[in-house]
Amino acid sequence: MKKAVVIIPTYNERENIQTIVPALQKVFKGIKDWDLHILVVDDTSPDKTYEVVAEIAQKQKNVHLLQNKKKAGLGGAYLKGMAKAFGPLQADLIFEFDADFSHDPDKLPEFLAQIESGADFVIGSRYIKGGGIPADWGLHRKFFSVVGNMVISTVLTNFSIRDWTSGYRAITKEVYEAVYPLITEERFMGYTFQIGFLNNAVRKGFKVAEVPFVFVDRTIGESKLGAEYIKNTLLYIFKVRLNDILQNRIFKFAFVGGLGTVVQLLTLSLLRLVIPDFKILIVTSFMVATLMSIEAAIISNFVLNNLWTFADRKLKASEIPAKFLAFNAASAGSILIQLVINTLGELWIGLHDIFTLPIVKITVDTGLLFAVTGIFIGLFWNFFAYTTFIWKKKK
Ligand code: GDD
Ligand code: MN
Repeated sequence: MKKAVVIIPTYNERENIQTIVPALQKVFKGIKDWDLHILVVDDTSPDKTYEVVAEIAQKQKNVHLLQNKKKAGLGGAYLKGMAKAFGPLQADLIFEFDADFSHDPDKLPEFLAQIESGADFVIGSRYIKGGGIPADWGLHRKFFSVVGNMVISTVLTNFSIRDWTSGYRAITKEVYEAVYPLITEERFMGYTFQIGFLNNAVRKGFKVAEVPFVFVDRTIGESKLGAEYIKNTLLYIFKVRLNDILQNRIFKFAFVGGLGTVVQLLTLSLLRLVIPDFKILIVTSFMVATLMSIEAAIISNFVLNNLWTFADRKLKASEIPAKFLAFNAASAGSILIQLVINTLGELWIGLHDIFTLPIVKITVDTGLLFAVTGIFIGLFWNFFAYTTFIWKKKK
């Protein structure tokens, strides 16, 4: 029989814990195919919640106590609880569950049904049909909860999850083992843990299901959710987003290309200063400077793309000479585009260095204008060539 452990983190829940445990036990009685346990993780609450739990645990052998010496925060308590549940207690599944009756214990069978039909992660959701938040919540609290979830979905660009912050959850051992090594941040030790843990599970490709439940406000004791929660959440989601952008291959390619453009234009400007003007047959000094500046950009692009853009497909040292030649060949296409544009530009419009528009007094360096145009068209060809020839996907 599969085993599920309901983890209840507690901090000053002396009164609540005495009534929530029997309420859960009653629901357990109606569930036949799961071996159900309760693990209370108490951070040595000043009201001595742990004493009450120790007493219950002596009489009811499916109740366990994990007592932390220091207050670990909600996330910290859950991580310790999960380590014990999936470790010594040999659970297949855990529940996250609040001690204060905000989470309806009668919903447990619905969570289990979702797990049995293939879900890896089940969220008790307040924002799907059948779910809800207390009607008597103040307007600002409703606003923060609803808009908060919308902001999280938007920044993380995932609208498939409707309740990111819910603390009523079922999580399988597979999810825990894949996600806990990723939970390294101090920030996760508080309530942001919920969003971070879920986001990592979603990104690992686990199947997430939501079951509706109506959140009920506690009547005894008080919430430990602090003001730093909003700040930590915003910091977390924007960091994830920024990381996504920085990890994006197109972004890296564009960035390296942009840097290559700077290298090219700087080299071009420099060479135009140092190479004396000449024209031998059709070869001009500008043409030579263009070619040399393009090669400077090619070297910069090759090195940076290999180290960063295609770091996951990094070339072996032995491959580099041949691939660098191939890279040059691939760049020949864009060189050709650029050469044609620069040459035609020089022939038809002329270089004259500075080109002044007749009515409005804007001066344009036509040489640079041709170069920039050619570079951008060449970029499209380059990305195609890099991904298909130079840094081929490894099998
Ligand atoms: N061990 C331990 N350590 N337990 C804690 C700590 C801590 O530092 N902080 C809170 N808890 C326990 C509480 O005793 C309670 O059993 C449970 O965690 C939830 O804490 P509350 O303080 O009641 O949280 P809440 O009602 O404001 O927030 C609930 O709803 C949020 C969504 O609106 C929780 O379910 C959150 O997880 C959820 O994000
Ligand atoms: Mn609560």
